[in-house]
Amino acid sequence: MQCFYVNSCAFMMSTSAQKTVTLQDKTFSVFIPENEILAAVKSIADKINADYSGKEILFVAVLNGSFLFAADLLKNILVANTIDFVKLASYSGTTTTGSVKQIIGLNVDVKNKTVIVLEDIVDTGITLENIYNQLAKMEPKEIKTAALLFKPQSYSKSIAIDYSGIEIPNDFIVGYGLDYDGLGRNLRDIYVLNNK
Ligand code: IMP
Ligand code: MG
Repeated sequence: MQCFYVNSCAFMMSTSAQKTVTLQDKTFSVFIPENEILAAVKSIADKINADYSGKEILFVAVLNGSFLFAADLLKNILVANTIDFVKLASYSGTTTTGSVKQIIGLNVDVKNKTVIVLEDIVDTGITLENIYNQLAKMEPKEIKTAALLFKPQSYSKSIAIDYSGIEIPNDFIVGYGLDYDGLGRNLRDIYVLNNK
C-alpha cells in the first residue's frame, strides 16, 4: 500500500494487479480505464466537429466535476469555440421555504449563440435540467448537452443528452473529475465503489 496524503492517510492506492483506491472509509476498484475514457471524450469531440463544421460554439462546463472532461474535450475540438465555467449555487428565497439553485459564473452573453453544456455525469438529471432551463431564458440560438457519463436507469428528465460518452449502471463512481467527499478528482481512471 502506498499512502499519498501522508498525514491523514485519507488516500491509499494498492500496488496489486487489481487497482483499488481507498478514500476515507470507502474502497473503490478500477471501472473505466484512462484509455477508454479518453477514447469516449475523443468520440464526443469528433461528433461535435462533424455537426458544427464552420460554425461557432459556446461551451458551458459545469464545475466542479467537469473540469478534466472539458479540458480533454477542448483539446480535440477543431471548430471555433469559447468556453465558460459555471456552478449551481443554492440560495434561500425570501418568499419560499425551499432552496433555489442559480447559475453563477457565467460571464458571457448567451443570446443567439449555440451553447453546448458539458457535464461530467448525468445521474437524475436535476442539475442538467436546472442549468438548461436557466440558459434557455437567455435566448440562445440552441442548447445542446454533452455528458461523459450517463446513468440512464436513474435519469428522470426529458432533456435529450445529445452527446453521451459512456452509459453506466446506478453505481457510485469516482475519478477523472468525480469525487467522494471532495477526494479522488485527480484519479486518471474511473473507479467504482466496492461492496455495495
Ligand atoms: P444529477 O443532478 O442527479 O444528474 O447529478 C449530477 C451531479 O451529481 C454530477 O454532476 C455529480 O457531481 C454528482 N454525481 C452523480 N453521480 C455521481 C457519482 O457516481 N459519483 C460522484 N458524483 C456523482
Ligand atoms: Mg457535474
